Amino acid sequence: MHKTIDTALKPLQGSVTIPGDKSISHRAVLFAAIAEGPSVIKGFLNGQDCLSTISCMRKLGVKIEEDGEIIRVEGKGLHGLNEPSEILDVGNSGTTVRLLSGILAGQSFSSVMTGDESIGRRPMRRVTGPLKMMNASIDGRDFANYTPLCMRGGSLQGVHYVSPVASAQVKSAVLLAGLYAQGVTRVTEPHKSRDHTERMLETFGVKVETDEVSAAVSGGQKLTGSEVDVPGDVSSAVFMLAAGALVPGSEITVRNVGMNPTRTGAIDVLKRMNADMHIHSERMLGGEPVADITIKSGALQAVTISGGEIPRLIDEIPVLALLATQAEGTTVIKDAAELKVKETNRIDTVVNQLNELGADCEATDDGMIIHGPTPLKGGKVESFHDHRIGMTMSLAGLIASDKVLVKDTEAIAVSYPGFYKDLEKLMN
Ligand code: S3P
Repeated sequence: MHKTIDTALKPLQGSVTIPGDKSISHRAVLFAAIAEGPSVIKGFLNGQDCLSTISCMRKLGVKIEEDGEIIRVEGKGLHGLNEPSEILDVGNSGTTVRLLSGILAGQSFSSVMTGDESIGRRPMRRVTGPLKMMNASIDGRDFANYTPLCMRGGSLQGVHYVSPVASAQVKSAVLLAGLYAQGVTRVTEPHKSRDHTERMLETFGVKVETDEVSAAVSGGQKLTGSEVDVPGDVSSAVFMLAAGALVPGSEITVRNVGMNPTRTGAIDVLKRMNADMHIHSERMLGGEPVADITIKSGALQAVTISGGEIPRLIDEIPVLALLATQAEGTTVIKDAAELKVKETNRIDTVVNQLNELGADCEATDDGMIIHGPTPLKGGKVESFHDHRIGMTMSLAGLIASDKVLVKDTEAIAVSYPGFYKDLEKLMN
């Protein structure tokens, strides 16, 4: 499916409510499945990735009822999952394959996980490596670096894993395996990654010990079924905020934005870019901070984005790069080599597709340099089946001088199925 985006002829106005957080929705289903007793998840993201998690857990024998944004899960306990008779298909979802690896590592049965073409290119050794150190038996292409992964777990030993990358998927997989292991399992990262696993395990009754860059669990702790309220996904919210900042004369309010400090790097960057933004109605929802944000369009300044800030905004770099094409000065994004192993190599896909529309971006080894401001022109661009590239290029269409055709936009449903509907609401 291709989508043609017309230049926005009038300012964006009004408000949108951001759908559930993808990271939190995955975790809610996975944790509820291995908890004892029923759980209810409210505000669940019905995106393709989270639906892949539901489908895998059903194949492991978990009863899951879907009722719009409300999901009911009959927890089977840590040791109640069934050996699946079919291959577990994770679709496009890195979070599903990596977090589920941690759970499957603790099962004495055998299971096979696979996914789409993009998943088949994403490195899995970062997860299978530490799980093997804990004694799980895992095989896969290139010595368990690529799917399909074939797992047989059981008899795990706790480890202190010092991860070379700041990755919540790695941390979560190892901590989940740690629930099945003897002794304490600790993960230390170079910088703190998103901490939804730590927060939600506590909600399910698990004691997690944390400090600035480490998290640890003792094995054998059971999870107790719970009620989980999923806040809106800040990663989706940033697309709407960017639309408001970019389309001249706009003023919009984005509601239900998850404000977990491990995720709000892009909000901090928007402030540094001088965006006219007001954060209000701050509150807590399901153990996570949430707020509403009003933004007005206006002149933007170039910024430098690097170091410990990168894990706090890694998924938002494509749209931040688009904002940087309209900012005064040179924006430098560095220490972000992780972009190369996302749904696409997002250094190349962002730089090439923005340049296609007349931007002045250069790829570097660990990020990109963007010279702004440059007017964008119309054209045909690829999404490469990457949801965040599809949304970024669609926003580019709103400010380009002519129509932009974005290819294969169905991928947007991975994280933000109502993206175009929400944009249209702001345009009317
Ligand atoms: C996620 C962690 C991040 C992020 C991904 C979701 C998660 O990946 O990019 O979209 O839910 O834990 P890494 O753990 O690879 O950094």
